[in-house]
Amino acid sequence: MSDKLIIFDTTLRDGEQSPGASMTREEKLRIARQLERMKVDVIEAGFAASSNGDFEAVKAIAAAVKDSTICSLARANDRDISRAAEALAPAQRSRIHTFIATSELHMEKKLRMTREQVLEQATLAVRFARNLCGDIEFSPEDGYRSDIDFLARVCEAVIREGAGTINIPDTVGYGIPELYGDFLRRLREKVPNSDQAIWSVHCHNDLGMAVANSLAGVKIGGARQVECTINGLGERAGNCSLEEVVMAVKTRRDYFGLEVGIDTSQIVPASKLVSQTTGFVVQPNKAVVGANAFAHASGIHQDGVLKARDTYEIMRAEDVGWAANKIVLGKLSGRNAFKQRLQELGIQLESEAEVNAAFQRFKDLADRKNEIFDEDIIALVMDESVTA
Ligand code: KIV
Ligand code: ZN
Repeated sequence: MSDKLIIFDTTLRDGEQSPGASMTREEKLRIARQLERMKVDVIEAGFAASSNGDFEAVKAIAAAVKDSTICSLARANDRDISRAAEALAPAQRSRIHTFIATSELHMEKKLRMTREQVLEQATLAVRFARNLCGDIEFSPEDGYRSDIDFLARVCEAVIREGAGTINIPDTVGYGIPELYGDFLRRLREKVPNSDQAIWSVHCHNDLGMAVANSLAGVKIGGARQVECTINGLGERAGNCSLEEVVMAVKTRRDYFGLEVGIDTSQIVPASKLVSQTTGFVVQPNKAVVGANAFAHASGIHQDGVLKARDTYEIMRAEDVGWAANKIVLGKLSGRNAFKQRLQELGIQLESEAEVNAAFQRFKDLADRKNEIFDEDIIALVMDESVTA
């Protein structure tokens, strides 16, 4: 089994399905260029058959992006698949991603189709798509809530038709890491031709476990592709977040033993671009890309980090695209952090007694003010009256 983990970004398709996150062609193109800069393996650029606008966006991205595979989603029917192929025509490397639901609930209530009808439609769709494109991905929608034996039959059939990637979505975010990972492992065991496809995970975040489930799908289930979005953007509570899954696999390479080709220094620029484009603010305590992800406020932590960064940092801020980590001065800060900031500001106090006095004034101010900025420090050192 390969030790490369394929990163499939669906910010521009599943991410855009987030209410209020719809993007123009130009906005999608700008984000696609950033994803390419970040060395994302596959960019799902949209759902070409869903609207003329999305068709044009997929086409423009297919023409502009050269280093990533460009993918379009398509329902399992000839019209959607033809439309996807048409939009993808300018791409250097393209993929058609076709899907149909396989859970009893979706088949009976939504599709109003029998198992045999779904099996046949999936088979025909992949056969049709395979004649238009060399790279086909198949997703059984609501796969995780599907009967595993029926799902195995569908997967076996579509692999036989030439689907090179089989993606098992946890469409409604129902999974629990061990259970989802184990489901994928057992499913692969039931599919006789499973080694002819790359297995992929696609997890939603309804219970806040999209990243954990995806990682379990990799570790326990043997998936070698993760579908994810920048900032975890996506339907309802979102999708698995790219920055978290990538940094987990990189930081815990000792556990996963996998390579990811992402240029991680492009992660924060990508996060900011998606946030500015969609207007979806990133929460300050969001892992990796939140404003506080590398900020230290407590005196004990600040002292530790100033002595050796790895005391309280498991990743480098610079490695994910921040300029630096942050020592936030406030009422919990210690003397060491205060002295360090004086030094950075080029302020030289004559004696330890002067430092002590300035530190005391800083603490008094910090009791009244949430965060102390550099301007506050300059003022309190220059003008004792600030604390009055
Ligand atoms: O969540 C889902 O099931 C999907 C599929 C279309 C892959 O987004
Ligand atoms: Zn999805």
